[in-house]
Amino acid sequence: MGRDAHFRVWRGDAAGGDLQDYTVEVNEGEVVLDIIHRLQATQAGDLAVRWNCKAGKCGSCSAEINGRPRLLCMTRMSIFDPDETITVTPMRAFPVIRDLVTDVSFNYRKARQIPAFAPPPDLAPGEYRMQQVDVERSQEFRKCIECFLCQNVCHVVRDHEENKPAFAGPRFLIRAAELDMHPLDARTDRREFAREHQGIGLCNITKCCTEVCPEHIKITDNAIIPMKERVVDRSYDPLVWLGNKLFRRRRD
Ligand code: SF4
Ligand code: SF4
Ligand code: FES
Repeated sequence: MGRDAHFRVWRGDAAGGDLQDYTVEVNEGEVVLDIIHRLQATQAGDLAVRWNCKAGKCGSCSAEINGRPRLLCMTRMSIFDPDETITVTPMRAFPVIRDLVTDVSFNYRKARQIPAFAPPPDLAPGEYRMQQVDVERSQEFRKCIECFLCQNVCHVVRDHEENKPAFAGPRFLIRAAELDMHPLDARTDRREFAREHQGIGLCNITKCCTEVCPEHIKITDNAIIPMKERVVDRSYDPLVWLGNKLFRRRRD
């Protein structure tokens, strides 16, 4: 048996917009994306929303529900009070294209900057061997669906457009950690890259990214903090420092 719910949805584009009120039918078992689709079908045929799988796996339907970054397709209507007004807005950290759809190309630019996995040149595909413990460690990071909710919530860029050139964001600090921890990655400059080009020092471990991750990846504890420790080891360990000096001098 359906009931009516009160929704406020942000409508507009890059030039501006505002919240619009809708009363819409809700049925047992529905998620917020169902309600957005019903709005499109009955009252707002031109409402823009991005989605693909409706199963929490494509990472397309990211938005903010009552101010919290969430996947529209994984947010059950049953978690809200029946009398509550539910506000749906686009992700705040990225430019709006229209309504609930944002331009997330910032993330693709950051992804492209990361040097690719580099196995030792004398090892052919098929000869790769890894310990199970190393497989399991990177497996957690590989669960990422690239919804960019963590990027959206991170205060370093959320209200600070000026930080974007210097900061890669939690999703790509995970990638940095995954590659640095990979036993078959032969690059030796991952830590310098995280410090110099990904701005890992700007993260102050608030853990907001971990709280919104729909894949429950322990972004801060398992990726960013270990990566920060590795960066510090590399940069400030006196033995490493001395080694770098000698090595550089020999090369010079
Ligand atoms: S822990 Fe770091 S990366 Fe995550 S939201 Fe906080 S500042 Fe951003
Ligand atoms: S780490 Fe989690 S929150 Fe961030 S993009 Fe991946 S799945 Fe989304
Ligand atoms: S529609 Fe694919 S994650 Fe929501």
